[in-house]
Amino acid sequence: MSGLVWVELDKTAPDHNLQEIKKLSKKGTLFCAVVKSNAYGHGAKEITSLLPSADWFAVNSLEEGIELRDFGIKKPILLLGYVSISQLKEALDADLRLTVYNHETLDRIAELIRNTKIKNPPKIHLKIETGTGRQGILPEEIPDFINHINRIKGLLFEGVSTHYANIEDTINSEYAKMQLKVFKNSLEKIMKSGAKPKLVHTACTAASILFPETHFSMLRAGIGVYGLWPSRETYLSALLSGRYLPDLRPVLSWKTKIVQIKTIPEGHYIGYGCTYRTTRKTRLAVLPVGYADGYDRALGNTAHVLVKGKRAPVIGRVCMNLTMIDVTDIPNAKLEDEVVLLGKDGEEVISAEQMANWAGTINYEIVTRISPFLSRKIV
Ligand SMILES: Cc1ncc(COP(=O)(O)O)c(C=O)c1O
Repeated sequence: MSGLVWVELDKTAPDHNLQEIKKLSKKGTLFCAVVKSNAYGHGAKEITSLLPSADWFAVNSLEEGIELRDFGIKKPILLLGYVSISQLKEALDADLRLTVYNHETLDRIAELIRNTKIKNPPKIHLKIETGTGRQGILPEEIPDFINHINRIKGLLFEGVSTHYANIEDTINSEYAKMQLKVFKNSLEKIMKSGAKPKLVHTACTAASILFPETHFSMLRAGIGVYGLWPSRETYLSALLSGRYLPDLRPVLSWKTKIVQIKTIPEGHYIGYGCTYRTTRKTRLAVLPVGYADGYDRALGNTAHVLVKGKRAPVIGRVCMNLTMIDVTDIPNAKLEDEVVLLGKDGEEVISAEQMANWAGTINYEIVTRISPFLSRKIV
């Protein structure tokens, strides 16, 4: 950690965003904040400390769940991803809720209940495959799974879930509605079997904002908590629907400092591959950030950064640890001046969406790939 590149987190924004999304749901609906992948690159430790209103947290892996427990988090934690059969005991010992969709997982939990001491009753959330073509059991497998679950004494069948495939990418809600229908039928089957899972959760951020009928007993939202809209289509759909538009405030800024400034002549090449050649006498500033930090290589010769509230173009390729910018038009820029890679400076903003467009990806990936080795400062 050099301290020359860092992330700043707005202290009040995460809980504000959570409250804004929660406003769209019925009173009593729980909120599970998705903080997987280092809280979408923001820093899991810092973000969980800034979310007092979250009822639950969700992460992807066992390691992430244990990390949250090590931070002292006592709230329920749901593991969204797969836990190896050989590691299920560790997950149960840390009282982590499991997303289940394999009989082998249930067999191993039964064995652990029979043969070992587990402090808290194992709690599972059954995931239904409704059309995302990812994790989950098919609706026709429900009877088999329910039978299996019912045979395991001491197991708590706590939740049922699904996840939508096509809300963020379109303003057409047909596919999401079809998935919801499959889910509701599945839920009916489960309830008819006599099982009484007390938590039903399907809604990511886009579903939370656009489709109240997906809310059930708990929202399970990530990107909105970080103050980012899931997509332009989600924003447009919300606008067209006339419903309340949550005031989402980006949580994260990403900053660095100028580590060298020099004037180079016209016709001078910049960076690997000599992909940029100056067309004028140029004041070049060198930044100590590169693709190793998550600053995408596709940003070379494309992105802007902010110096003294003004845009400066990235010139040449982004290197592993260095990036070059043109500050000819910002004559007062000097050594160790702060540079905003992502975020606001005066009237100017570089948004995660703009950076995603430059890099040919989505805002989720831009923030998630910011290196976990950079320090996170709460401001
Ligand atoms: C299973 C699951 N639930 C919820 C979420 C949260 O989605 P979003 O960040 O769009 O709110 C994700 C995100 O990838 C997910 O994989």
